[in-house]
Amino acid sequence: MIIGALKSTSPTDKRSVLHPETISRLVNLEGVKVIFESGIGQGINVSDSEFQKNNLTPVSRHNCLSEADILIVPSALSSEEVQALKKNSIVLGMIDPFGNKEHLKMLETSGQTAVSMEFIPRITRAQKMDVLSSQANLAGYSAVIEASSLLSSALPMMMTAAGTLKPAKVFVIGVGVAGLQAIATAKRLGARVEAFDTRDVVEEQVKSLGAKFVKIDLGETGETDQGYAKELTEEQIAKQKELQSKVCERSDIVITTAQLFGRPAPKLIDQSTISKMKPGSVILDMAVESGGNVEGSIVDQVVENNGVKIVGISNLASRVAGHASVALSNNIINWITEFFDKESVSINLDFEDEIIKSSVLVHQGKIMDERFK
Ligand code: NAI
Repeated sequence: MIIGALKSTSPTDKRSVLHPETISRLVNLEGVKVIFESGIGQGINVSDSEFQKNNLTPVSRHNCLSEADILIVPSALSSEEVQALKKNSIVLGMIDPFGNKEHLKMLETSGQTAVSMEFIPRITRAQKMDVLSSQANLAGYSAVIEASSLLSSALPMMMTAAGTLKPAKVFVIGVGVAGLQAIATAKRLGARVEAFDTRDVVEEQVKSLGAKFVKIDLGETGETDQGYAKELTEEQIAKQKELQSKVCERSDIVITTAQLFGRPAPKLIDQSTISKMKPGSVILDMAVESGGNVEGSIVDQVVENNGVKIVGISNLASRVAGHASVALSNNIINWITEFFDKESVSINLDFEDEIIKSSVLVHQGKIMDERFK
């Protein structure tokens, strides 16, 4: 069996789906040869020879597409690339199914199998494969580093001979995986941190990090069985905006992370709030790629509005591409080794298994998930 790995072609994604620190478990699988697209590690300063030392073989992109039985991809393939795939191969990676329904249709037509790492279910056994969590964690860290670099003050309180410098105030909206890491990072840097989420269950987690949970009573909110937030009504959103506006006004940095799985992100900060915020303050919209939480945020731009910097950075995890690649590669290898069958030297696609059922969206040319038919 040949496992191949493609290089990222996106200028904003420097990550590699394989990392030398993690690949021994893949290379050591009996009967498996691992090939990779030459230059795969460029974005993380890892040369081809580093992979070759670990018994991986560099090949061209076309050869990787046409020789691999399992092809690890950093993103969805183009239609030409789907045409070039080996028959009956498994395409596995962060293929963004909601944003790339056409990609699934192409894989269906060409009779392939597609695994979306974004659809790993949120169960304990699957945590080691959960790319959304591993990347959101690093993105939350990067969000604080990027936002603080645009602020004209330091984050910690400093008592100096030249006077006492007040700590910065950071407000985190949305306390999922990214939000929790943003809170932890801002706290480590000495900021005063407040946070809000519609899921009440996170209040304890916020407090355990030493931050303050902002109480906003929105009536019934709740979460899905996968732990994702339920969509709010228009009235609830209006109330949230009004009450959190006061916290934004007193904050130096606002980081918004609110997302709804498979749907556009809720708009939570509008012009009326922005115009009340302090000039020089920074809003970093982590949901910018899925519609944005903040009015006027633009992907990969810093927009100044009333002296407030509104920041939209795509792929924040890629700002720490080395660590992001270690985690991503581990997640992917964990999926492969979990389902690798030693006897037949193939992947055991048993649809009774919850992880297979959730993550395999196309199976030998048949779309398995109703949402993409
Ligand atoms: P996400 O990226 O979909 O959303 C980010 C956060 O935004 C969530 O906490 C959500 O509640 C919040 N949000 C949505 N609408 C909002 C609004 N109007 N105002 C404020 N906040 C809003 O979520 P993420 O980070 O992928 O995961 C959410 C939760 O799933 C985690 O906190 C955890 O409890 C659970 N989880 C469980 C795992 C497991 O059991 N294997 C793995 C990862 C996460």
